[in-house]
Amino acid sequence: MEYITLNNGVKMPIVGTGTNTYGKENNEFKGALKNEIPELVSALELGYRSIDGAIMYNNEELVGRVLAESNVPREELFITTKVPANEEYISSKEATRAAIDSSLKNFQTDYLDLLLIHFPIEDKEQLKNTWKVFEEYYEAGKLKAIGVSNFGKSQLDELKEFAKVKPAVNQIQINLKEKNNELLALLEEEGITPVAWGPMKTEAHQNEVLDEIGKAYGKTGAQVLLKYQIARGVIVIPKSHNRENQAANLDLFDFELTAADVEKIESL
Ligand SMILES: NC(=O)c1ccc[n+]([C@@H]2O[C@H](COP(=O)([O-])OP(=O)(O)OC[C@H]3O[C@@H](n4cnc5c(N)ncnc54)[C@H](OP(=O)(O)O)[C@@H]3O)[C@@H](O)[C@H]2O)c1
Repeated sequence: MEYITLNNGVKMPIVGTGTNTYGKENNEFKGALKNEIPELVSALELGYRSIDGAIMYNNEELVGRVLAESNVPREELFITTKVPANEEYISSKEATRAAIDSSLKNFQTDYLDLLLIHFPIEDKEQLKNTWKVFEEYYEAGKLKAIGVSNFGKSQLDELKEFAKVKPAVNQIQINLKEKNNELLALLEEEGITPVAWGPMKTEAHQNEVLDEIGKAYGKTGAQVLLKYQIARGVIVIPKSHNRENQAANLDLFDFELTAADVEKIESL
């Protein structure tokens, strides 16, 4: 596994697995919870160590149980979760503390590697209070890194006004439909690492070109797609319910795209 060093020195695996439909009936986001996640077991066996969770996914406890039952040492894991921008979690500092304490319990751990605010918080006071609690837990060593998700420029600017600790990452949609190039340039300037959610989303005509590029390396179009993002400094957290695809999404480090390939992908 390769890592990116975040702005506070913490190392984050460059490929992780999403979990938003894991352990759910019919692999549906809103599906009823089951009692097991064979896909997560499979991902850990294949070498995934970065796990992207969220309170909103409603499966933290189950994911935490599967992680605890695996033989993977805690220090090898990189656990991310996210506090929703809902009143229940951000109406007071106490509410945010309770959310973080509950996540720590769900993941059966005394620290999380990364905690994010899941969506922008409109109310300035609530944003400030939430971030202050994040900083409090960060300083206590219970959060190794803190960051945001789905924040645009104006929301990052707002945070800057009072943040003592700069967000380490901004997890945003990045794929060939939502390239987000302007925001990526801003994040680079600010030293905030981009994490791509929904990295696999493409349109049919794009897949043909990606597949064609992949042929030269014995790779699939999906692998080309992930490699393209990684090569420009983006962490990816693809989610798959299929072991073969899970394996393919880790098998990205034995080839390099040429400048001509990149140009082709960027023109799609
Ligand atoms: N912060 C946020 O607001 C936010 C929002 C959405 C998602 N997320 C996070 O980001 C993670 C990833 O996003 P996502 O699940 O929405 O979408 P995604 O990872 O872009 O796409 C998942 C789809 O891609 C397919 N796939 C995966 N690898 C493949 C491969 N090698 N070849 C062909 N198809 C492949 C999967 O099908 P198979 O199962 O058949 O492989 C699945 O249908 C989520 O699980 C979640 O943790 C965060």
